Amino acid sequence: MTSALPSLLISIPEGVLDLGWGHPSPDLHPTEALRIASERVLSQQSAVPLQYGAVQGFGPLLEALADFLSSQDAYGNQPVDPGSLFLTAGASQGIDLATTICAQSGDTVFVEEPTYYLIGRIFLDHGLNVVGIPTDANGLDTEALEAMLRDGHRPRLLYVIPAYQNPTGATLSPDRRRKLVQLAQEYGFTILADEVYQLLHYGPPPPPPLATMDDTEEGSVVSLGSFSKILAPGLRLGWVHASPDIVQRFVDSGVAASGGGLSHFAAAMAQATLEMGLLQKNVAELRRVYATRRDAVSRLLTTDLAGHVDFNQPDGGYFFWLTLLDGKDADGLLPTAQEAGVSYRPGTAFSSVGGFRDSLRVSFSLYEVGDLAEALSRLGQVIRSG
Ligand SMILES: Cc1ncc(COP(=O)(O)O)c(C=O)c1O
Repeated sequence: MTSALPSLLISIPEGVLDLGWGHPSPDLHPTEALRIASERVLSQQSAVPLQYGAVQGFGPLLEALADFLSSQDAYGNQPVDPGSLFLTAGASQGIDLATTICAQSGDTVFVEEPTYYLIGRIFLDHGLNVVGIPTDANGLDTEALEAMLRDGHRPRLLYVIPAYQNPTGATLSPDRRRKLVQLAQEYGFTILADEVYQLLHYGPPPPPPLATMDDTEEGSVVSLGSFSKILAPGLRLGWVHASPDIVQRFVDSGVAASGGGLSHFAAAMAQATLEMGLLQKNVAELRRVYATRRDAVSRLLTTDLAGHVDFNQPDGGYFFWLTLLDGKDADGLLPTAQEAGVSYRPGTAFSSVGGFRDSLRVSFSLYEVGDLAEALSRLGQVIRSG
C-alpha cells in the first residue's frame, strides 16, 4: 500500500531518534488482538456495528467500559455508572466538543503552565483566550489559581492533566484535587480533566479521576479518557466521564444528532477486546513494557547526565521533564542535537508565554530500551558539550 501522500501524523528523518513524540512504538500496537476482535465484530452476522450508532455511544461498550473502569485501582475500585459515560472520537475530539458545549468565542480558558503543547490549538480554534497557571511537583498550583480568581479573573474553562502530566509527569495531589473542584463549584467554571494516562501507572495508582469528586447534579468536571493510550490511537476512540447533566449536554450535541455515536465501529471493536479479555491483557503488557523503559531512562539520566539535568521520575505516563543546569537553553541546543541524530521537544513548546527555555520533554513511548539508550547517549554528549 504505497502512496505519494502521507499515511501517518508524523515522519521522523532517517537516522534520527526522536524523543519528542508521545506515540506508542509499532511493536506495542496489539495488531493480533484487534484482528481477532475484528473477526468477532464482522462475523456475528449483525450489521449493527456498520449502522449509525446510538448518540451516547455503542451501548454494549458503555456497559463493558463501565465494568472495566470499576475494576481498576486507578478508578479507586469504585463503581462507574454507564450513564456517566459518553463515547468520543478520542480525548482531543472530546475536548473540542466540550469546548463547543461549554464556552463561546472570547471566553477565557486556564491551562497549566506548562501544558500539553497541542491543546492550545483546540482552544484557539474556538476563539478562547488561553491563560497559564503555575504548576509545581504536585501539579497545578491551586493557591495561585485561587489568588487569580480572587483578583477577578473569570475563566469559563480550566484544562488540567491531573495524572502523569504532559509534559512534566507530575500528578495532582489529593488536597489540590479537592480544592480545584471546590473552586470550580464556587466560581462557576468547568474543569476539563484530560486523564488519558490515568491507567498507565507503573506502581501504585494515581488518585481516582477528578469526575469522581464532583458530587453536584449539574456537574463541574468533565473527565476525558482515551483508548489511544491503552489500545491504539488509530481507533480514534475515547470517553467522557461526567455528571448525568453534563453527559446529557454531550448527547444533545448537533454532531451526535447528525452522525450518531462517535467512532461507532471502533467502539464495537473495543467492546470485543473487552469481552475477550484482550484489552485487559494489553493494559497489563503496556504497564510492564513502559515501566521497563521508564526505569532504563531514569538510570541513564542518573549516570550519563548527572550534574547536567534535574528531573523527577514519573510514576506513569510517557514523559520525563528535564531541566538543564548551568543556564543552558533547550531551543538553542536542538539543532546540534538533531545533527547528532537525536531530537526532543523543547520546553518553550509547552508554554503560553515562551517560558521554560531551560527545559525539555523526553518521551519513552516510541522506542525500545536499546534505542532509548542510544538516544540518551547522543543527547548526553550534546548537553555536556553544549
Ligand atoms: C495530554 C494529552 N491529551 C490528549 C492526547 C491525545 O489524545 P487522543 O488520541 O485521545 O485524542 C494526548 C496525546 O499525546 C495527550 O498527551
